Amino acid sequence: MPARNWVEISRAALRHNCDYVRRRLPPGTELCAVVKADAYGHGAVECGRVFEACGAGWLAVTSVEEGVRLRAAGLGGRVLVLAGFAAEEAAALIEHRLTPAVWDAAQVAWLEAARPPQGFPIHLKFDTGMGRLGVTEEQAPQVAATLAAAARLRVEAVFSHLAMGEAEDGIFSRQQHRRLTAAAEGRPWHLLNGEATLRFAAWGGMLARVGLPLYGYSAQMEHAAQLRPALTWKARVVSVKELPAGHGVGYGARYRAPARMRAATLAVGYADGYRRDLWPEAVALLGGQPAPVAGAISMDLTTVDAGQAPQPAVGDEAVLLGPGLSATRLAGWAGTLPYEILCGISARVPRVYVD
Ligand SMILES: Cc1ncc(COP(=O)(O)O)c(C=O)c1O
Repeated sequence: MPARNWVEISRAALRHNCDYVRRRLPPGTELCAVVKADAYGHGAVECGRVFEACGAGWLAVTSVEEGVRLRAAGLGGRVLVLAGFAAEEAAALIEHRLTPAVWDAAQVAWLEAARPPQGFPIHLKFDTGMGRLGVTEEQAPQVAATLAAAARLRVEAVFSHLAMGEAEDGIFSRQQHRRLTAAAEGRPWHLLNGEATLRFAAWGGMLARVGLPLYGYSAQMEHAAQLRPALTWKARVVSVKELPAGHGVGYGARYRAPARMRAATLAVGYADGYRRDLWPEAVALLGGQPAPVAGAISMDLTTVDAGQAPQPAVGDEAVLLGPGLSATRLAGWAGTLPYEILCGISARVPRVYVD
């Protein structure tokens, strides 16, 4: 059954991006490829394989469930679980050799109760300014005491997350860096995310936790120009027809054909992650020509003005996101970030790996 819409992911682009990032890391800093949220929509297992082969010693995921999925697919490298776990997941963490981020005495108790092997590694998270996860300065003495009493656990590293990694001046990032290295008290630490790795690689640390640049994106122009977006999203044309001037298109007839119009309907909608708020700005490519979205995007279908396409026909492929139509551009149309566009491509959209 041919897919209605699908994404093509270039392994060569992923490899290129991975090499590009690794080349910038100082000696002693290992790449931790962030493959959470199904590798930002690119498929965690396939991307994990590519990144491990390109030298990432670590992968980072959101949850125990995501980590177990990597193990089930045979990925054997270190896996950092970033965003917490439940008491009943402690045993699976240990069984699958996943490394949890820890910031709470309750987490320590759950792990100890699950009887990990002596020296089971954890990464202690500090809140150095994000105000989200992590031990605050106030909480630090109590958590330190809890950890000192946890005989089986070993703090392999302390870490923190940047709140403004993309900020050019780096003032807040520097503050966070100072706070973390002070809290580390000589222990290994890690802080850099993707943008900060590209900007402040020399800060080093045990790991550089890089996500978005591995998929081909950076807010820094000079790096964006060198990275290769790995994902192309395509949809099939399911209808082509002429509409008279003034004819409404889509729910609410919020678009009216300004003149006689050749309308092509694409087999993609917001259930696939082609968000309603992309309209009225979004454009697809049909026959290599811009085809502006015309009318409200519906659950499974999107109509475009195919007036510039040479000979649009049912069965043709339209490009929704790809060369010339970056996730950053779509994000601009929808008033969001490329992260949300990429992660928003829903699970029902098949992922196809090329080269
Ligand atoms: C804790 C943590 N580290 C690293 C990253 C990677 O960030 P980026 O995709 O901006 O490189 C994320 C992503 O949100 C994260 O939550």
